[in-house]
Amino acid sequence: MSWWNRFRSSPGKSAQPEFNQPAMRLGEHLVTDVHSHIVPGVDDGAENLEQSLKMIERLVGLGYQRAVLTSHIHSDIYPNSKHTLTAPFLKLQGAVAERWPGFRIHLAAEYFLDSHFQDCIAANDLLWFPALDENGRAIRCVLFEFGFHEPPINHQQVLFDLQMAGYTPVLAHAERYPYWHRQFNEFESLQDRGVWITVNGASLAGAYGPETYQVAKALIEKGMVKMICSDAHAERHMDSLQAIGKSALVQQWLQSGEPMNPKVNFEANHF
Ligand SMILES: [Fe+2]
Repeated sequence: MSWWNRFRSSPGKSAQPEFNQPAMRLGEHLVTDVHSHIVPGVDDGAENLEQSLKMIERLVGLGYQRAVLTSHIHSDIYPNSKHTLTAPFLKLQGAVAERWPGFRIHLAAEYFLDSHFQDCIAANDLLWFPALDENGRAIRCVLFEFGFHEPPINHQQVLFDLQMAGYTPVLAHAERYPYWHRQFNEFESLQDRGVWITVNGASLAGAYGPETYQVAKALIEKGMVKMICSDAHAERHMDSLQAIGKSALVQQWLQSGEPMNPKVNFEANHF
């Protein structure tokens, strides 16, 4: 019997998220937030250092100790690279160290699965973050996303190439691809191939509507979700993290032993 069936108490009553449990500080359990747009001025996230610091302050307040900052890399819209991201990241890192000496940030990226991503894989020029897998083995994770409107083409080959290059693919916000909302076999196929599936806190808070919430919930109930992430572009996403601390669904997931967020630790010398 799955952990969910053991915990499940009220099947069927869940078209909308419910926040009726005693408040839990998500960061005390997840430790590391793994997907966010907090590097200032490089994508559609934080516009300046002040906004970045406000977002970090919220993570600290929620009990997080670390954050992986995953700026968009999308050849047409956000032509970022290590070169464009490093200077603003280091500026932020210095400011964070001054204000919250115990809080750590790490630079990675959210790659759009396009030909530029394929070029980065071929050149082994990737921004990644370290983690431990379920067996305690050190792995290198790369966060990627699909387009929201059309299903990906050739993604299985690209993800295979990424794995052959030595990386674990981590799918951003699996619940936000409407063309797969009735095709869970696509998620199962990715999972079977070793892709880690993540969902956004805002989806679990209902911010993207009931259908997206239902898909995120179903992924959790099926035991497929490795991480809940902020995908924070602004402070409103921190409000979502705060809200879902009162969700029975999220609290049960936190207690299930399934969250891999704490296994992302760039302070430990994994390599
Ligand atoms: Fe994102």
